[in-house]
Amino acid sequence: MSMRMRKKRNFEARMEACEDLLLAQGTNGILNMKEAVENFRAWIDFEKAFGNNNPVALEIGCGKGGFVRALAKQQPKWNFLALEKMSNVILTPLEAVKADGAKNIKFLNIRAECLPCYIPENSLDCIYLNFSTPLPKLGYATQRLTHRNFLEMYKKLLKKGGKIIQKTDDRDFFEFSIEEFTACGFALEEVTFNLHENGNPEWNIVTEYEQKWVERGLPIHRLVAVFNGA
Ligand SMILES: C[S@@+](CC[C@H](N)C(=O)[O-])C[C@H]1O[C@@H](n2cnc3c(N)ncnc32)[C@H](O)[C@@H]1O
Repeated sequence: MSMRMRKKRNFEARMEACEDLLLAQGTNGILNMKEAVENFRAWIDFEKAFGNNNPVALEIGCGKGGFVRALAKQQPKWNFLALEKMSNVILTPLEAVKADGAKNIKFLNIRAECLPCYIPENSLDCIYLNFSTPLPKLGYATQRLTHRNFLEMYKKLLKKGGKIIQKTDDRDFFEFSIEEFTACGFALEEVTFNLHENGNPEWNIVTEYEQKWVERGLPIHRLVAVFNGA
């Protein structure tokens, strides 16, 4: 994938057709924190958005959305927010959900950094970080989605007892994440460096990137970090 992806055909019209599924949209997804603060009016009202009070899970960096769509089908009593900064990428799961009519998935076309302007505090039950861009530690540590600045932000958004579930193929990023979760007071559970050791566990939903790395024989790392309210 080149850095500058060509826009899909009829891009604007197709995005507009999915507007009812989009709870937040940056300028082509590139909304920075300053703009988000300036535009802030009110947090998203989940009850209004989903029509119920079911627990809410957020996937950050949903990509093509295979994971969140499968999970939403499996867990109809949960609501799902799928966040992706790239408009061109989010269009794929948007159109898929539009077509299959799933009622428990909505989308945020924003950068993760801007979440506090959209999500109420103490409102999320779970956050999924699936194959987040690892970025080099040197020079980019603060942009990693498990850097402690992000973890402190997630702690505000999570309910007490809420969980962050991370999967990655990048060992350095995984070890860095373990350190950051620990430093921020999360309790780590189910830490594994080789999720697929005995084949794919039947409960595990394989993401698009996961599929790619598993086919190449790379071990997949996974952890569950529980926020105990401190
Ligand atoms: C490596 S892909 C993984 C996609 C998918 N979760 C999977 O496992 O197949 C990472 C995705 O996260 C998105 N992303 C990276 N940093 C982000 C950020 N700060 N805010 C929102 N999305 C981000 C990228 O645009 C990309 O689509």
